[in-house]
Amino acid sequence: MSVTASASAKTILFGEHAVVYGEPAIAIPLSNTRTYAGLTANGQEFRVSSRNVFEECSFRDLPDGSGLKELLIRLQDEFHLTGLPKDTLSIRSDIPIASGLGSGAALSVAVIRAFAKRFEIDITAETVNRIVFEIEKIYHGTPSGIDNTVIAFEQPICFIKNKGFRPLQADLSGLALLVADSGIRSRTVDVVSDVRAHFDRNEDSIHEIGNLVRNAEVAIQKADPAEIGRLMNENQRLLRDIDVSCPELDELISLALGNSAYGAKLTGAGRGGNFIVLAQSPDHAKALKKLYEEKGIRSII
Ligand code: PMV
Repeated sequence: MSVTASASAKTILFGEHAVVYGEPAIAIPLSNTRTYAGLTANGQEFRVSSRNVFEECSFRDLPDGSGLKELLIRLQDEFHLTGLPKDTLSIRSDIPIASGLGSGAALSVAVIRAFAKRFEIDITAETVNRIVFEIEKIYHGTPSGIDNTVIAFEQPICFIKNKGFRPLQADLSGLALLVADSGIRSRTVDVVSDVRAHFDRNEDSIHEIGNLVRNAEVAIQKADPAEIGRLMNENQRLLRDIDVSCPELDELISLALGNSAYGAKLTGAGRGGNFIVLAQSPDHAKALKKLYEEKGIRSII
């Protein structure tokens, strides 16, 4: 008996951080970059194996209070199980951790989907989203809910905290987007709490980001890359104002702009992690990707 399931990475195009304070944000799934969870019967006990993250271990060896352990406890309740199955849960992920691409939410979604398959339970995206939001609180402290939502529904969204989301009515296939990893790891919870600690100083920029996102939604609907790029640059300027960029990201972003990209900005919590670039065409994106690779910077797409 063996089942597998997966969940995508995500990138926030506009509005990170401001979304924590009720402003809208726009996020898209990165469907080609995924976390996979498999359940295979071992006939002995529940075990977890995660290539390149931690050694294979039993459920009780998972750290107490960790997102994965909490999720496994909740799933037994949620699916009315009398205990965990005598299976090995194997986790494999192409999503870099602590780098703004939603690796924690993707892990939770993939594990829930694997359990649903294993026990032949029909589970809606709404239910997946609700469970993962609770687990995100362990990873992030005070998450807006954007990561779990875009990953559970796996579609482009415009999201507002505590109000939900609407699908983004736009064809994004014409946008030559590049997502690349600065290689610097940064904990969302730390960056979000720094922004909160200086809220008085950051408040105006946060509202400006909200207004910018409303304009970005229109530009995306019109499929106007020059305007989308301009708004990305403006969003990056405001993210610098609230002190969530860093010199390395600023330099990588300048490289794209110095090589004719329409726009570039960090994505996710910042102070490291990934950044996104809007190139002029797929060939231009390929050329930029090569430029980054020469500097040892890996592109995700
Ligand atoms: O860094 P990530 O992928 O966890 O994204 C965090 C996005 C924030 O807006 C900074 C926080 C949130 O909860 O929305």
